[in-house]
Amino acid sequence: MQLLDGKIVSQAVKDSLKEKVLALKQQQKRAPHLAAILVGSNGASETYVASKIKNCEEIGFDSTLVRFDTDVEEEILLKKIEELNNDDSIDGILVQLPLPKHIQESKIINLINPDKDVDGFHPVSTGKMVLGLPSFIPATPYGIMLMLEHYKIETSGKHAVVIGRSNIVGRPISILLSQDGKYGNCTVTVCHSRTKNLKEICLQADIIVAALGKPGFLKADMVKENAVVIDVGITRVKDDSKKAGFSIKGDVDFDEVAPTCSYITPVPGGVGLMTIAALLKNTLYAYSSKGN
Ligand code: GUN
Repeated sequence: MQLLDGKIVSQAVKDSLKEKVLALKQQQKRAPHLAAILVGSNGASETYVASKIKNCEEIGFDSTLVRFDTDVEEEILLKKIEELNNDDSIDGILVQLPLPKHIQESKIINLINPDKDVDGFHPVSTGKMVLGLPSFIPATPYGIMLMLEHYKIETSGKHAVVIGRSNIVGRPISILLSQDGKYGNCTVTVCHSRTKNLKEICLQADIIVAALGKPGFLKADMVKENAVVIDVGITRVKDDSKKAGFSIKGDVDFDEVAPTCSYITPVPGGVGLMTIAALLKNTLYAYSSKGN
């Protein structure tokens, strides 16, 4: 079994981005600039956004964090997005999800200028991705693809089973893995909460992407020997032995599954780190697409 190490791969991506920023600065050009909007004080969202901002700083990107209280009116949020859309110094805009219930997520996402949609959630980005056109790819699936590429994992003709059909992970990764391309060409099965015989389907998988948000869900008896296992779960589970009072658990029962698979991503230290690296790559793409 070999670990797909998010620390190593994300660092390689970030080192390469850092070099590009240095080159830009040597040419007296400004750095790429990411704006992140955070509504409310959801603990996990706070952590993710703080990490995104910190990673921008590490590689020399500019960043702006815009915070709103949980009860912010939708109109105020829409106005802020318009302002960021019209600000030429901002290359990428992301709105951390989930948003409070009184705000219509699709309305917010659809207002983001597709040229600044570094999360790849706008319908224009989704449409381009489905058609195989250059576009922003949602950061988690993009991060997974970067990991497959780094470890040169053979995907062509393999059966990939994706558990979960979210717009953020399951749906886009199923499209990317099935596309004609070096790390695509898989035969993909998308499973979800209504899937029957999930265990039998998983046992046929050469590659499993677990993205359902249920800690420890994928057990050893659901995984074929030598399968590649990608764990997208990052659930906070109460853990009194930890200072924070919780630990982060993936969707895969790592201790059970790891011994028999060929490659596996750890949690933490796997896909989560790749998500941020991919977001940074998208931000540079937004900057460069403007002709900077
Ligand atoms: N919430 C969970 N994952 C993501 C992500 O990739 N981007 C944003 N904006 N919100 C999220």
